[in-house]
Amino acid sequence: MRGLFITLEGGDGAGKSTQIRNIEKFFEEKGMTVTHTREPGGTPIGEKLRSILLDPANTEMEAVTEMLIYAAARSQHVRETVLPALERGEVVICDRFVDSSIAYQAYGRNLGSMVAEVNGHATGGLRPDITIWLDIDPETGRARATRDSGPDRLESESTAFHTRVREGYASMAEAEPDRFKRVDASGSVEEIKDEIYKLLEDLCLVRGL
Ligand code: TYD
Repeated sequence: MRGLFITLEGGDGAGKSTQIRNIEKFFEEKGMTVTHTREPGGTPIGEKLRSILLDPANTEMEAVTEMLIYAAARSQHVRETVLPALERGEVVICDRFVDSSIAYQAYGRNLGSMVAEVNGHATGGLRPDITIWLDIDPETGRARATRDSGPDRLESESTAFHTRVREGYASMAEAEPDRFKRVDASGSVEEIKDEIYKLLEDLCLVRGL
């Protein structure tokens, strides 16, 4: 694998989309080719699965069903989009990846260790070079989030659910400090950008870029 795989995590209102654009700029200014993609989605099959997953009308969806559909979308995404771009030497910036399943399905839905096991198959063992977690408390995030449409199926979950999700992310930050970086997302857009750029400079230094 020659490219760089960068993933972004974080809840509603953390400012993920704005910072993804900043990360794109960071690498484009270095003259690198960037592929920007997302989960669930990033392939035609994945985008179809995404609409099933996020549709608020799907109230009867079982937790295990949900977890398997996220993993199915991921399997397609890794093989059809992410790996080919990495093999071309590109920087792949992905809005959410397997850590979302650990946070939302293992912690949020209390599915436990089966999530990591299933996702090991979905990713084929692919790990991000760095994961940036924009951490914001669920209440602040919700109040900040601006949207044209109503909340999707996951966003409609209780504060207790979103608190478990955040605990999941916090334990990943503790378990994998070299890869999984917490960034306080309560600050200004500029402050968050500066902190992310520092992390990316460090990564580039290590990788000789
Ligand atoms: P999206 O609109 O991309 O949300 P956001 O703007 O918050 O990133 O919708 C993705 C939703 O799916 C989000 O609520 C998190 C959830 N999700 C999971 O529960 N598990 C997963 O594996 C992934 C990738 C996302």
